[in-house]
Amino acid sequence: MKRVVVTGGAGYIGSHTIIELVNSGYSPIVLDNFSNAKREVLAGLKAILEFEPHVEEVDCTDRSALFSAFERITSGETIDGIIHFAAFKAVGESTLMPLKYYSNNIASTVNILEAAKRFDVSDFVFSSSCTVYGQPETIPVDESTPVRGADSPYGYTKQVCERIITDFVRSGYPLKAALLRYFNPIGAHPSGHIGELPLGTPDNLIPYLTQAAAQLREPLTVFGNDYPTPDGTCIRDYIHVLDLAKAHVAALNWLGGQGTTCEAFNLGTGQGHSVLEVMRAFERTTGVPVPHRIGPRRTGDIAAIFADTSKARRELGWSCQFNLEDALRDAWNWQQSTVD
Ligand code: NAD
Ligand code: UD1
Repeated sequence: MKRVVVTGGAGYIGSHTIIELVNSGYSPIVLDNFSNAKREVLAGLKAILEFEPHVEEVDCTDRSALFSAFERITSGETIDGIIHFAAFKAVGESTLMPLKYYSNNIASTVNILEAAKRFDVSDFVFSSSCTVYGQPETIPVDESTPVRGADSPYGYTKQVCERIITDFVRSGYPLKAALLRYFNPIGAHPSGHIGELPLGTPDNLIPYLTQAAAQLREPLTVFGNDYPTPDGTCIRDYIHVLDLAKAHVAALNWLGGQGTTCEAFNLGTGQGHSVLEVMRAFERTTGVPVPHRIGPRRTGDIAAIFADTSKARRELGWSCQFNLEDALRDAWNWQQSTVD
């Protein structure tokens, strides 16, 4: 079995990827400091997998602790790949606490690359974001779209980390790297055992929407209806987290057949949906109304973006199996299971 270290493996996307790795015959090792994950996620993973995955509690910014964890993990065996999810991800918070984001996200990436070098791991998958494109001039965006000046420290950490990985490969080190640029991951495992666990008031649309629908929050504020889009609300590319998780397996499989490389891939559905379309799709799928009001625009939001996914389809042999309704149904199922 191929062994894969998954940093941030207790987080939202990481935990779903653990399931898909196991389903595809990989042996994943979770490496997380639980700074943005609850330990309950491990019980959720156990309920789905019927065994407890190997977990190393470690902070990736602590290089010596990280190397010790790698020593324990290897213990004479090879590590076939690393998927590096561990990072802070709240855009708004990053503008208030930039150093927190620069030190965590960038130091973690440098340290994990050092660990790859020290422990001879050649296959490396990095969690990037469509935020690297800013507001592109044409949509859908493909990977040749220029990366724009970042709007937030969070976005800048993704650009810097992509550059660090690219430079490491250019330096001649035989790394095989896939930079995965996620669009908007939503939804949850259909079992209801794992999902997104935002701490405090959610900033992102779907967790806020489901909590508002469950009457746990004030009505949803639609951030602006005067954008240059058909209904005036922003358009995004919402991808089911399980499809995203499967893309990581596809990326690892692809890396296995490559020489030294560093390639970026867009991971989205290729379909854009407006905020109002998402709300109506949720109501149609679940039969539950979403209390809402139209509010002002949110600073920093772009009008519209969605992915051209042809490269991932062509190179990785991957495409989405779930649609928006599936993702909203699973997000609602997860929301209900968290209040039981
Ligand atoms: P998450 O916060 O749920 O998961 C991140 C995990 O990393 C958490 O479990 C956290 O405890 C852990 N972590 C953070 N810093 C760490 C450190 N120094 N050492 C060890 N563990 C650490 O976030 P997510 O939504 O699962 O996102 C995963 C990755 O995908 C992140 O890199 C994020 O920037 C990127 N991403 C997410 C989205 C999104 O909408 N969720 C979009 C684009 C990119
Ligand atoms: C944001 C980040 C992106 C990051 C992602 C995951 C920005 C500009 N982008 O994406 O870099 O990778 O989160 O953390 O911050 N909306 C509402 N009401 C709400 C919440 C959201 O109308 O209460 C709207 C937003 O205006 C947006 C859409 O819903 O049009 C999606 O918002 P959100 O889920 O926050 O994701 P992004 O802003 O696309």
